[in-house]
Amino acid sequence: MQTIAAQPSTHKLPEGPSSSGLWQMLQWIGRPLGFMEACRQRYGDLFTLQLGQLGQIVFCSNPVGIEEILTADPKKMDAGCNNSVLLPLLGNASVILLDGESHQRQRQLLMPPFHGERMRAYGSSITQITKDIASPWQVNHPFDVREAMQAISLNVIVKTVFGVSNPERYQALQALLPQFLDLTGSPAGASLLFLRGLQKDWGAWSPWGRFLRVRSQLDHLLYQQMDEHRSQSEMGSDILSLMLAATDEVGNPMTDIELRDELVTLLLAGHETTASALTWALYWIHFLPDVKEKLIAELATADLNDAKSIQRLPYLNAVCSETLRIYPIAPITSPRTTRMPLSLMGHNLPVGTTVAPCIYLTHRSPELYPNPQAFQPERFLERQFSPYEYLPFGGSNRRCLGMTFALFEMKLVLSTLLTGYQFQLEQPQPLKPVRRGVTLAPPSHFRMILTQRR
Ligand code: HEM
Repeated sequence: MQTIAAQPSTHKLPEGPSSSGLWQMLQWIGRPLGFMEACRQRYGDLFTLQLGQLGQIVFCSNPVGIEEILTADPKKMDAGCNNSVLLPLLGNASVILLDGESHQRQRQLLMPPFHGERMRAYGSSITQITKDIASPWQVNHPFDVREAMQAISLNVIVKTVFGVSNPERYQALQALLPQFLDLTGSPAGASLLFLRGLQKDWGAWSPWGRFLRVRSQLDHLLYQQMDEHRSQSEMGSDILSLMLAATDEVGNPMTDIELRDELVTLLLAGHETTASALTWALYWIHFLPDVKEKLIAELATADLNDAKSIQRLPYLNAVCSETLRIYPIAPITSPRTTRMPLSLMGHNLPVGTTVAPCIYLTHRSPELYPNPQAFQPERFLERQFSPYEYLPFGGSNRRCLGMTFALFEMKLVLSTLLTGYQFQLEQPQPLKPVRRGVTLAPPSHFRMILTQRR
């Protein structure tokens, strides 16, 4: 591993592969883990990639360097501009795409609903949705775990974030959202996003034309939902109600366009990510009998009607932490572009350099995590990791807004499933992640068998 002392001060960017930007981009899309690992092996924990239209990005997997990036003045680091690939889905006002004061304003408006204390309002919905999705599963029949976890996390968002209770709108959203999200979920969809030349509306049957039509139907439903919320005399406990009530420093609420863009942002940022995390957790728990045994023993001591006590269970927490370490859902944080010179592990990076803490490589560092490819929840019981050593939710002023929500949901869904049902893997084989849009996810063919209802 490189250290600050080992590196001479230089204005040159850290070394990286010299192949063409297109070739590096294709590797980044097609085999991100192998590509990152090969680069670290060759160039160390600081290297520069040329990623086609995303430009040059300096990847950093050294906690010293990550600390330098994440503690730099956030006003001088832009990240929103680097997420513009998501613009067609999210819209201009999305917190993920903004920088500077407008980013700070949106974050302040969005933060209160995600405060830890508010989570309790969502606990019973999450548990009920999990039971509803699990109820049709038949004993001795396999089911697609990813599909099931996606259904849970989608329903949780529709209910707790959008606050939809009207059954027709609920159904319409359930039918529409998977089509909308397919743009980031499928490899073909991801190519549409990354390669702008393909974004042409050749009519309702063309891929882009179909996307535009689905998007306008979704927007229509979301505006209907906002109108309905505004007309209600009592404020609901869902996140949309709190967003409608929130005002900025000068007393202005969010505009309808801002509300629409943030709702879609929360959907996009929160749906696939949480579903992948849950799928991985179920895989590891059932792949490793010891882990399952310890977890079930701990859950047997918990008061399952008390969401707060479930959140505090140490082994469950360690299993969730290890799940997000070994295959982090996001391989890198949002890349940051410097608006001032940045000293990164001895390199003086000029203004306009884009840097990205590399979550995957940091989490796979043998110095921090001995035997890094082994799933060992005990690591998180034995020591505490700094926010620059363990960062599944990123950091600084861009840290995931839904972190508490996601962990809360993971723990409730897992405890509901593990105490209510018994499962086994259909095929006890190692699973490898695949790219889904900007995330890494378990493959879609992963199935488990329900062996018994408890
Ligand atoms: C296990 C689940 C999740 C993981 C692993 C995850 C991970 C991340 C990561 C790595 C970032 C980038 C942080 C950075 O650049 O420093 C991020 C940003 C974000 N996440 Fe999550 N996330 C998860 C779930 C959620 C949920 C449930 C929501 C909301 C319902 C959410 C909303 C957001 C938003 C709005 C941002 C953008 C923040 C900003 O740019 O200021 N995420 N997330």
